[in-house]
Amino acid sequence: MPSKPNAASRLVFLAFLLVISAAAANDDAAARRTMEQFAGFPASDDGEGPSSDFHVDSEGLQRQIDELASFSDSPAPSVTRVLYTDKDVQARRYIKGIMNQLGLVVREDAVGNIFGRWEGSEPGLGAVATGSHVDAIPFSGKFDGVVGVLGALEAISLLKRSAFLPKRSLEVIMFTSEEPTRFGISCLGSRLMAGIEELAQSLRKVVDNQNVSFLDAAESAGYKLNLEDLHSVFLKTDKYSAFIELHIEQGPILEKEGIPIGIVTAIAAPASLKVDFEGNGGHAGAVLMPARNDAGLAAAELALAVEKHVLESGSIDTVGTVDDEAAATTSDEGVGSINEMGLDID
Ligand SMILES: *[C@@H]1O[C@H](CO)[C@@H](O)[C@H](O)[C@H]1NC(C)=O
Ligand SMILES: [Zn+2]
Repeated sequence: MPSKPNAASRLVFLAFLLVISAAAANDDAAARRTMEQFAGFPASDDGEGPSSDFHVDSEGLQRQIDELASFSDSPAPSVTRVLYTDKDVQARRYIKGIMNQLGLVVREDAVGNIFGRWEGSEPGLGAVATGSHVDAIPFSGKFDGVVGVLGALEAISLLKRSAFLPKRSLEVIMFTSEEPTRFGISCLGSRLMAGIEELAQSLRKVVDNQNVSFLDAAESAGYKLNLEDLHSVFLKTDKYSAFIELHIEQGPILEKEGIPIGIVTAIAAPASLKVDFEGNGGHAGAVLMPARNDAGLAAAELALAVEKHVLESGSIDTVGTVDDEAAATTSDEGVGSINEMGLDID
């Protein structure tokens, strides 16, 4: 643990401050302990901690969150903001506007990942970055992703207000298309930054459900790019020394237990399996159970086996969908001759 806060730990610390003010500070002491442990310096006026005028403008932040939520294709309180639509473009403009107001150097790459940079006193060092996304699946909430972008901008604003001068450059990143809504590709912008060649290849031919190609959709949002430009999104090594994302909890666990913040210690690597079961048809009244070979029952057994494994191991696999093409009938075909099941394995 460093005895003196560096840029990274301050930024982390601010992320916590923001989470805490957003969570209405229902458990100040616990939150303070958590952030002190993580940041490595005390959250008090004495010593190395931030001074008492080190205040997050939570009202201003809330106002920005509400303003951003108004760029939506569905009525409030829901938010629908799909990649490269007009609302997405408006949200992008809004984010860039705040970055400009803060005096950050704003850059966009070929697919519209947006970077707001505050040059450090040693700009050659890898930057410390933070950020998230502002695209929103249909009828989502206004905090998803947005907290990690607007919260990061407020963190930068606060550091500027407190006359902090970073050694490493600090960057806020708004990633293009974290959600798979339009092209079925999630984390599109960040994965392209990671230099995934297969992704660059598939972006050449992918279309949305209206048969609009990725390149045409990008162009309609102001990102006119050639196929070669996709490679320019790939990051060079050592550009960043650290990255942190602040994100709302997407489930009920922390909220239910009254825990103000969770720190990610592992990242799920999701994979989906589709399992087809094939049984034999047979009259429900005449082919009796000992002689039956029902696909539906085999699928049910697998689903129960997955449940048992998950409960015993604490992993987060689920059985997502079950399609029974020959659902229970009393016809000659009998019960479930074909059955398809989707498994999400993490
Ligand atoms: C989709 O667009 C392409 C290129 O414009 C065209 O060749 C193709 O026929 C279209 N497909 C459908 C299903 O409309
Ligand atoms: Zn999100």
